[in-house]
Amino acid sequence: MLDLFADTPPWQEPLAPGAYILRRRALAEAQGLIAAITDVSAQSPFRQMVTPGGYTMSVAMTNCGNVGWTTNQRGYLYASIDPQTGNLWPAMPAVFLSLAQACAQETGYENFRPDACLINRYAPGAKLSLHQDKDEQALQAPIVSVSLGLPAVFQFGGLKRNDPLQRVLLEHGDVVVWGGESRLFYHGIQPLKEGHHPATGACRYNLTFRHT
Ligand code: SIN
Ligand code: FE2
Repeated sequence: MLDLFADTPPWQEPLAPGAYILRRRALAEAQGLIAAITDVSAQSPFRQMVTPGGYTMSVAMTNCGNVGWTTNQRGYLYASIDPQTGNLWPAMPAVFLSLAQACAQETGYENFRPDACLINRYAPGAKLSLHQDKDEQALQAPIVSVSLGLPAVFQFGGLKRNDPLQRVLLEHGDVVVWGGESRLFYHGIQPLKEGHHPATGACRYNLTFRHT
């Protein structure tokens, strides 16, 4: 019999040991997530951070949660104060927290308690070079990453920078969860292509939830 529901979203794709793509998992929440991004960025604006090496990142970033990821001349760090405003980072919106916890649970990571959400905004041409998420102390907690708006090519490698890369297109509403064996795997985003998305216009947003 023809199974009409086999390809209906959301569906899960294995990516690597401990890593999964939850296709279109955030589609139903997307409008609420984007409204919350607008609220957060009204308090802590998007900014292009400067790396310790003096390079201005092409991705614009802000944060919400108890702590936020930021840079200074000495390195990368989590801090409770937004260095640009001098205020606490905005609280994590409820719609963010519940989605991140549900996605972690659905991929076998129980009791995920993210205290930080990095919000990335990619304009056409913006990219994120291969890196590991290793500024967190809680390496037993997974990373939950939500894509909104324009599609982007996500690269996912291994523990070594020169391990072979998988390249997957992440589209509006896709969620990637990685932890366990793949928690420290290298990953990045290839330069964003021009385009227009009905939900976000000419950009892509990414929400990255961490337990620091
Ligand atoms: C990140 O690695 O922080 C972001 C990945 C993404 O934009 O999908
Ligand atoms: Fe990352």
